[in-house]
Amino acid sequence: MIDAATKRVFIQEVSVRDGFQIEKKFVPTEQKVELINGLSRTGLAKIEVTSFTSPKAIPALADAEAVMAAIDRVVGVEYAALVPNVRGAARALASQVDEMNLVMSASRTHNLANLRMTPEQSLEQFAEIVRVSGGQAAVNASLSTAFGCPFEGEVPDTRVFELVQRLADIGIDRVTLCDTTGMANPAQVHALCAAVKMRWPHVVFTAHFHDTRAMGLANALAALQAGIDRFDASLGGLGGCPFAPGASGNVCTEDLVHMFDAMGCATGVDLEVLLSWARRMPGIVEHDVPGQVMKAGPSSRRYPVPQGLGSGGEQQRLAAADPASTYHRGAG
Ligand code: COA
Ligand code: ZN
Repeated sequence: MIDAATKRVFIQEVSVRDGFQIEKKFVPTEQKVELINGLSRTGLAKIEVTSFTSPKAIPALADAEAVMAAIDRVVGVEYAALVPNVRGAARALASQVDEMNLVMSASRTHNLANLRMTPEQSLEQFAEIVRVSGGQAAVNASLSTAFGCPFEGEVPDTRVFELVQRLADIGIDRVTLCDTTGMANPAQVHALCAAVKMRWPHVVFTAHFHDTRAMGLANALAALQAGIDRFDASLGGLGGCPFAPGASGNVCTEDLVHMFDAMGCATGVDLEVLLSWARRMPGIVEHDVPGQVMKAGPSSRRYPVPQGLGSGGEQQRLAAADPASTYHRGAG
């Protein structure tokens, strides 16, 4: 077991990108901006603000430039955006993102379905982006379907290793391993994360899990135990790739922060403030959301003791009725 108390983890919010991209309702630009500005003041390390994809492919994020132009830039928060190709990179740089999150899939079929390119073509785009961007923004690469593909099934670890090396060769030293449709299990996550950490110690790895099969938090814990300290997560547990059949919500940000808090792991995030924003999410997307802590309250929540149970008189009455009870021994 890890020594959680010595750990600092970094929480990277993706609800406004991974979350909203799959919503039927177009969330108005002002509402996106208000939410991002609120989230910027919760202690999150990074916010993936939007994506510079084709507005035909992702109409929900067609307002990328307007959102980037309107948000506050809070010191200490990195503002990232998803980028699928050279055209998207030019748009992202014009909007002065702190980080371009280049996306490709470990599996060929999902790359074709999502981006209409082969993985090789994506790598060519990435090399060109790194060349033309000249360090104006940090570059992260997200590897979708790194733990399994909804079309092809198993994705061998060796395929992920090959791609991490190809990315490193291009000069990309930030890599996110994405479980796009919640196929990963904790044993697999631990093995893959430990292996990439060992092989590429200079690469900053992020884990990106979807809770499609209720393994999201378990997978996050397994990644933590393997030495990963950066986690993508989505407020309320929204999320999913529209081009991956069966995709559903990311690991829920406030549930993840709550778990790390409870373990004594430092997240830097103010859970109460985060929860106040999470509770707005159902109103914003106009449906219920999967997040659990927003409904149950944190584990520190206490309820009033049922009437009569709190008084000494009641304890005496119970003890008289049941001579074997602990009340005779004065146990509290
Ligand atoms: N931003 C805006 N428009 C873009 C663009 C970008 N980054 N890249 C391409 N386009 C436009 C082209 O200008 C063209 O417009 P037109 O029809 O008005 O002429 C149109 O999109 C098609 O261009 P093309 O290069 O042929 O792209 P494509 O149809 O092969 O689609 C992608 C490729 C990558 C642009 C598209 O598949 C995409 O945006 N995918 C994103 C998927 C995604 O975000 N998934 C969820 C995250 S995992
Ligand atoms: Zn995702």
